[in-house]
Amino acid sequence: MGHHTVAVIPGDGIGPEIVESALDVVRAASGNSLDIVVEEAGADHYLATGEVLSAAALERITSSYDAVLKGPVGRPDVRNPDGTEAGVLSGILRGALDTYANVRPVATMGGGPGRIDYVIVRENTEGLYASRGLGVGNDRVRVDQLLVTREGVERVVSYAFRVAASRHGAPADGVRRVTCVDKSNVLRSHAFFRAVFTEVAQEFPGIEADYRYADAAGHDLVAAPGRFDVLVMENFLGDILSDVGAATVGGLGMCPAGNIGDARAYFEPVHGSAPGLAGSGTANPTAQILAAAMMLDHLGERAAAEAVRRAVTEVFTQGLITLLPSGCPAGGTKEVTRAVTGVMARHGSPAAG
Ligand code: IPM
Ligand code: MN
Repeated sequence: MGHHTVAVIPGDGIGPEIVESALDVVRAASGNSLDIVVEEAGADHYLATGEVLSAAALERITSSYDAVLKGPVGRPDVRNPDGTEAGVLSGILRGALDTYANVRPVATMGGGPGRIDYVIVRENTEGLYASRGLGVGNDRVRVDQLLVTREGVERVVSYAFRVAASRHGAPADGVRRVTCVDKSNVLRSHAFFRAVFTEVAQEFPGIEADYRYADAAGHDLVAAPGRFDVLVMENFLGDILSDVGAATVGGLGMCPAGNIGDARAYFEPVHGSAPGLAGSGTANPTAQILAAAMMLDHLGERAAAEAVRRAVTEVFTQGLITLLPSGCPAGGTKEVTRAVTGVMARHGSPAAG
């Protein structure tokens, strides 16, 4: 393995437990060759210091590390006076690192009929959430505006087409396809998103350009997910539909995310900090482990990333770990760590080989 310095944000709630699990797996995959620096941030950090992330830590994160592995952050009881959460980081990190593509793979473990395997590319720096902290109003009305820029759409749509070019098409028909998801039948901002999508699609003649209104997309992600390959959409829609997709593949505990920009990237689970499960050792660490695999890919460590993904897949397809109806793994967090590192040891780690 090459030499990489990675920042780790353990986060709130179940964060520290599942990040520990992911780091155990990464160590096994990389032969301990990553330099890991812990950066504290999140809701607990806000309660302790008055800042969700210090200026010095943000400076290090934007300039010093090869990648960041972030746990879930936030606590429902830590709020700003306007009612929004004070302990979350996405509004800070996604802008500061300019990670415009939030890449959210949704896949069933293993093959077989009914296989689901698509990637949601969520626009990550504009959309409705660009109004974070800026909404206007008074005690009778509040307004948040939805921002769509030509450059913002061009770069994220182009990214989505390049993701499709690197894949093997939708499971149902093998067609490489990018689906533009929007409410262009209602909103001018979304109609603009769709128009720019159509322009960018011309640059990728080998990939089908497909369209779905967001409400119908929500339906089809549940009723006919096999036809999806890559989907690209505005920030708020991507936030919602990635949770919908997770529900079809074993829950939020299975789904990782990569926040990718041209210069910087950070990796996290799609889910939140599940404060009700914190400290119980019962949370599913799979999303955090798969986020670490995405980070290894991003660092150019493809063999290590593939070893992690293969081990996770084997653990579930061979029934070494089963999920309870709650989405928690029978046997708890550490049992998943043991099962994944056990399979990797049997296959021989790429770092050792
Ligand atoms: C996500 C999360 C964040 C978001 C929250 C924690 C602000 O839900 O990454 O999907 O809405 O972007
Ligand atoms: Mn979300």
